[in-house]
Amino acid sequence: MSVIISPSLLSADFLNLGQEVGMVNQSEADWFHLDVMDGVFVPNISYGMPIISQIKKAARKPLDVHLMIVQPERYIQAFCQAGADILTVHLEASIHLHRTLQEIKSMGMKAGVALNPHTAVNQLEDIIQDIDVVLVMSVNPGFGGQSFIRHSLEKVRKLRQLIETTHSNTIIEVDGGVNLATGKQLVEAGADALVAGSFVFNSPDPAKTIKELKAL
Ligand code: DX5
Ligand code: ZN
Repeated sequence: MSVIISPSLLSADFLNLGQEVGMVNQSEADWFHLDVMDGVFVPNISYGMPIISQIKKAARKPLDVHLMIVQPERYIQAFCQAGADILTVHLEASIHLHRTLQEIKSMGMKAGVALNPHTAVNQLEDIIQDIDVVLVMSVNPGFGGQSFIRHSLEKVRKLRQLIETTHSNTIIEVDGGVNLATGKQLVEAGADALVAGSFVFNSPDPAKTIKELKAL
């Protein structure tokens, strides 16, 4: 199966968001990656439910919502109503992760868990079978345009092993510093899905760049 591509709208032109959503609709991308930051869990603030519900009206592909917020369990219903199809919380922000994942799934969304660069994959050993998507952060979350942390490749390999030994159906998604070179290495290491923000939206032809990533 070909790699899933989830362009991050964090690097899109917000003055022309409708056109950017249209470009992703027309492209070979699979999902829309939407980064929600609260200024507490990460040192940056992005956008929230009002923008996501507007995007939902125009999007023809699933919304992959990445919550970089503290106490994400407080907002599960709100993001469901805004139109999230995949809702990802950070392991580091979730005290009762098992309960949070069950709540996400009970509302009909896919449940994702994101790992900061310092968080070991083996922390997922007792929960992997309940997770639809693991989002491996290959930069420190908070900003687009950072460079890829190479140790993430090793984490993807370990995660692939954990998924195989536990017979889980979990998708491995990687977020941060993805371009054609790092993307290729990630796919070889076992990644199923790639998020790409600045590499797509700062390129001269974003739809072509998505096509090139999709061909990895
Ligand atoms: C970073 C976000 C990413 C970001 C990736 O905190 O989670 O989704 O948009 O941006 P690039 O692809 O530019 O590293
Ligand atoms: Zn993200």
